[in-house]
Amino acid sequence: MSVTVRVPAKVNVQLGVGGLRADGFHDLANVFFAVALGDEVTATAGEPGTGVILGCTGPDAGAVPLDDSNLAARAARLLAARHGLAEPDVRLDIAKAIPVAGGMAGGSADGAAALVACDALWGLGTPTGVLLELAAELGSDVPFALVGGVALGRGRGEILEPLPVAGTHHWVFAVADGGLSTPAVFRECDRLREEAGTGSSDTEVPTPDADPALLAALADGDTVALAAALANDLQPAALSLRPALADTLRAGTEAGALGALVSGSGPTCAFLAKDAAAAEAVAAALRASGSCRTAHATHGPVPGAAVVVEA
Ligand code: C5P
Repeated sequence: MSVTVRVPAKVNVQLGVGGLRADGFHDLANVFFAVALGDEVTATAGEPGTGVILGCTGPDAGAVPLDDSNLAARAARLLAARHGLAEPDVRLDIAKAIPVAGGMAGGSADGAAALVACDALWGLGTPTGVLLELAAELGSDVPFALVGGVALGRGRGEILEPLPVAGTHHWVFAVADGGLSTPAVFRECDRLREEAGTGSSDTEVPTPDADPALLAALADGDTVALAAALANDLQPAALSLRPALADTLRAGTEAGALGALVSGSGPTCAFLAKDAAAAEAVAAALRASGSCRTAHATHGPVPGAAVVVEA
């Protein structure tokens, strides 16, 4: 028996970053937006004693860790433990389309998908509230991958409030060569703040809040207003660590994108386009520009992790 779950990637249309907390995290005003570019995770019952086995397919499969650091494996074990079950025997096959270490929460998405897939495979019927709790334990971005749509994440990003939205927006994602480490980008953000003399701790940096103009643009389904309100406090840090991303952002803007920003901690760059045809044109121009490894046109918002096949 096996269960396949489809799960979206995210882009942060606003990423407001507060100061460094005593626990090593930063308080965020994080407006998550789920896009159709996504992974699929298939959970298959394993033979007794085989434990958790991971597999991965897709062009970037080689960059996905297939050890116990993988959030899909950790999710399967965490769910089993929560139900008092022994080490599970399950095979988790990840069909990887989300850029790896790209700032689009691909690893977090696989963790969320594994929770949903194993819950269905083992017939546990875990309440949504418990799945969200386990997701937050796995990582700051994992709860959003369960919920999908558009949501404001507070705290370290795990306290979610779904946001009212209208319409569909068309996006392009420019995938860089190699990833960026999320902790390294947060550290660089702190370093740049220290260098600028503003201080970097949570007593020195004001707690961020969602931008009312951005929330109105989302509620109205107004792509032009959304493009004008895109904001990412981690962008200066990502550009500092990877200066070539400025060329990628420029190439997409010159190709007609309405707005551009680094996705989360990067290095993937995100572009808003006026419609599906414009998104395809921006993606083609980015691929031809030589400023990124590849580019994908997609759309959103889309729902969170959901079962697509049970066999
Ligand atoms: O929660 P997650 O495991 O995804 O976080 C990875 C790292 O990113 C954290 O250890 C921390 O360095 C950084 N982070 C942060 N503030 C957040 C979320 C993540 O500093 N709100």
